[in-house]
Amino acid sequence: MSSMSRRDLMRAATGIAVLAAAPRFAFAQAAAPAAGPFAVPPLSYAFNALEPHIDAKTMEIHHDRHHAAYVANLNNLAKTNPQLGTSAVTDILGNLNALNDDIKFAVRNNLGGHANHTMFWQIMAPDGGKPEGEVLAAIDKDLGGLEKFQNEFNAAGGRQFGSGWVFVTVAKDGKLAIETRPNQDNPIMDGKRALLGNDVWEHAYYLNYQNRRADYLKAWWNTVNWAKIAERYAAAKAGTLGA
Ligand SMILES: [Fe+2]
Repeated sequence: MSSMSRRDLMRAATGIAVLAAAPRFAFAQAAAPAAGPFAVPPLSYAFNALEPHIDAKTMEIHHDRHHAAYVANLNNLAKTNPQLGTSAVTDILGNLNALNDDIKFAVRNNLGGHANHTMFWQIMAPDGGKPEGEVLAAIDKDLGGLEKFQNEFNAAGGRQFGSGWVFVTVAKDGKLAIETRPNQDNPIMDGKRALLGNDVWEHAYYLNYQNRRADYLKAWWNTVNWAKIAERYAAAKAGTLGA
């Protein structure tokens, strides 16, 4: 029989209650971005809409916590640097060297992360169709056809060491190229534009795929929203594609 006093029992029970409450408290903090000019765009589909290729829990954590953290950091930066909230994202990311050294690194990572993820949610959808028209013609012309393109894109994403992205960049003349970037860098930082991109940070796939990044890269094609990519391609050629 335990010799715990009533006080010990109370203390133990309180400790359990605190432990049980702690994860919820931490989640609430992480999920509530600081008020400010930046916001996480809502998904146009449910968290489970991309299953079985991307599971609902991964989508929820990715969107509501990882993307939200970049946005919260940006809103904190904007408190002391309000120009961040009033300038176009493309202008800021395209001129990072114009920023003061004390915020350059944080803006690169967090605004890059915001731009990358905003694009990422848009260019995915359930039943996203197939490439057609001008986009398919450009894939055939510049990337050797759909199958070769997808294989090379997957290989590039697999080679990206550590965290980063694999993109298809689009030039103003419509020319396409496969390019990778580390961390949350975006082609805008080099005066280019991303037509599409896949997130190869482990947070994008680890719950379902663990270390099998190649399987995630292959399955991801089932989630691609080709109608949105056609819109982005037309905008790129018109010089109006944002982030
Ligand atoms: Fe991500």
